[in-house]
Amino acid sequence: MLAGVTTQPTMAADPAAGRLVANMCMTCHGTDGYARLPNAPHIGGEPQSYLEAQLMAFKTGSRQHEMMSVVTAGLSAQQIADVSAWYAAHTAVAALPEGSHAADAPDLCVSCHGADGISTLLDAPHLAGEDRLYIDAQLKAFKRGKRSHDIMTEIAASLSDEDIREFANWYASISLEIRPPGSKED
Ligand code: HEC
Ligand code: HEC
Repeated sequence: MLAGVTTQPTMAADPAAGRLVANMCMTCHGTDGYARLPNAPHIGGEPQSYLEAQLMAFKTGSRQHEMMSVVTAGLSAQQIADVSAWYAAHTAVAALPEGSHAADAPDLCVSCHGADGISTLLDAPHLAGEDRLYIDAQLKAFKRGKRSHDIMTEIAASLSDEDIREFANWYASISLEIRPPGSKED
């Protein structure tokens, strides 16, 4: 090592280490991120920065949930980076149901969540194939201030319960496939 050079270790995320952390998640999210419980979201193939931000939010208490708050309390920032890298290494592939057209997707949502529920932003989640009740519950959480985010809080505030039901139905009707790391995108 060169004298006088300080190597500042950056927190490199290691998906292989994250695969081991995912053993703690699999009963609810699967090891591939395809949810095994209806109230747990699919997380495979989500943007790494979104996953990491949500896990840190649960850990620090800015987002709360009886299960996830407990799970993240026991994880270090390194484990959170690693497990986020593991799930993000997967690829989410969405397909609209037969007879359904992208042009009918909710106009208010497509710029960030896509017509098919595949996010177009690194800080926004995919919605494809999430359970109707999960989407509904999250929108109401933003609307009522239980969960907060500068963009989503404002959008959710403008939605009626009927809009929420309709948009949740749109995204929940899409089928989602999660492909393992290393598989190519279509
Ligand atoms: C006992 C079941 C359970 C376990 C174990 C669990 N989760 Fe969760 N997870 C949930 C539920 C339920 C939610 C939905 C929380 C809500 O409604 O706000 C969730 C939400 C999340 C979210 C937010 C996703 C989004 O779209 O906003 C992430 C990320 C996540 N979990 C990652 C993990 C990771 C990583 C692990 C393992 C270290 C894990 N979870 C373990 C049940 C679980
Ligand atoms: C300008 C971009 C933008 C638009 C438009 C937008 N969203 Fe979002 N959405 C986001 C971001 C960013 C997040 C992540 C919020 C966070 O970090 O907590 C999010 C989160 C969500 C979540 C939480 C999902 C989860 O996995 O926990 C739902 C549900 C959602 N949006 C639904 C909608 C719906 C329905 C619409 C249309 C009415 C919409 N969004 C419009 C950017 C957007």
